[in-house]
Amino acid sequence: MLTGKTIVLGVTGGIAAFKAASLCSKLVQKGADVHVIMTESAKQFITELTFQSLSKNPVYSDTFDERDPSVVSHIHLADEADLVLIAPATANMIAKMAHGLADDMLSTTLLATEAPVMIAPAMNVHMYAHPAVQANMRLLESRGVMMIEPGEGLLACGYVGKGRLEEPETIVQVVERFFAARNESVQGQGLLRGKKVIVTSGGTVERIDPVRYITNDSSGKMGFAIAKAAKDMGAEVHVVYGHTDVEPPSDVDAVKVQSAEDMYRAVLEHWEDSDLVIKAAAVADYRPKVTAASKMKKSGDTMTLELVKTVDILEELGKTKTKQFLIGFAAETNDVEKYAQDKLKRKNADLIVANDVTAEGAGFRSDTNIVQVYDAGGLVEQMPVMTKDEVARRLLTIAAARMNGALS
Ligand code: PMT
Repeated sequence: MLTGKTIVLGVTGGIAAFKAASLCSKLVQKGADVHVIMTESAKQFITELTFQSLSKNPVYSDTFDERDPSVVSHIHLADEADLVLIAPATANMIAKMAHGLADDMLSTTLLATEAPVMIAPAMNVHMYAHPAVQANMRLLESRGVMMIEPGEGLLACGYVGKGRLEEPETIVQVVERFFAARNESVQGQGLLRGKKVIVTSGGTVERIDPVRYITNDSSGKMGFAIAKAAKDMGAEVHVVYGHTDVEPPSDVDAVKVQSAEDMYRAVLEHWEDSDLVIKAAAVADYRPKVTAASKMKKSGDTMTLELVKTVDILEELGKTKTKQFLIGFAAETNDVEKYAQDKLKRKNADLIVANDVTAEGAGFRSDTNIVQVYDAGGLVEQMPVMTKDEVARRLLTIAAARMNGALS
């Protein structure tokens, strides 16, 4: 899996630096060409010779220790890397990265590289929870740096909690999955070229009065991941989204709506000439019968709100579809398969993606999901816990194969 991949492994100064030796060895065993850069503090915990012996490559720690006159080492390593992995990443290195400091070989290489960067933080539980560290990590994430969250347990400092470097085996799995996903995305490029795709995302908002409404927990992450993946696969993408916690991808046509009725109308704008529609939005099943024009006043101990059914967008699309491939989602809390199958048939969808929204790592707001894909014949695929980006790519690969007449 890692053969032919050049990984720059940055090792910074924490007690977990000793685990980086095992990590280096495992990456090499998987076929990676590993180049280690150590900070001066890391050398307090483990020697350069250890990494040199394991990686069979020279180890760098001094920006000015130029061994090959034909190249500038930190630029050469930065250019050669397919991935820069920092494990363990101390609070200090995370802060340097967040603020763009370049005062040693590793931080300088990090500024110079265009390769993807993944970091596995490790530190004391209170340091990890410190708002400055958390803010720096969020900033790095917003720039695309991938985090391998530390595990919980007994820390070298004596505390029990979150801050322990993730186990080398797990880090290697994350690295392998990263390259596999990138490979899949390269293979997937063009799979939806020329196709028009509509994706709905987020939760609808059904107004009670000017200050109150009914909505749900959808963050928009699942729908936007699908929109982004469809765009990457070459499709023309229209996103219709309601209430979300995150912004839609910047390079797709995105229309913000409120209610189920608004969403239905916006979807119909592109429906006729669309090829693929994915309804990841969490649409309210009921709305207040009347929306009060002014703020409703408190009166009496109880209040009854009369609700009426909203339009079922997926069901309506299912009735009028011609060439369109229709994918619905099913957010369930129990009897997932039964309800998913029922929705597939009732709404005349080609595929239903079921998620148990009570499962850890699945459903609303989380960055990951666990889904089962069904067609009229039953289970098509049970996906393990995957990031929503990975779920999106896999789902669209299945859909593209079916739209092109090949089952997947
Ligand atoms: O946005 P995230 O935080 O990332 O969370 C993702 C998610 C949990 C919202 C997503 O994975 C998901 O499950 N979306 C569907 C939510 C939902 O409304 O499920 P449902 O089982 O109630 O509806 C079944 C299908 O019918 C859905 O495709 C839904 O969009 C559609 N529907 C439902 C009601 C309605 N009035 N019109 C519809 O089109």
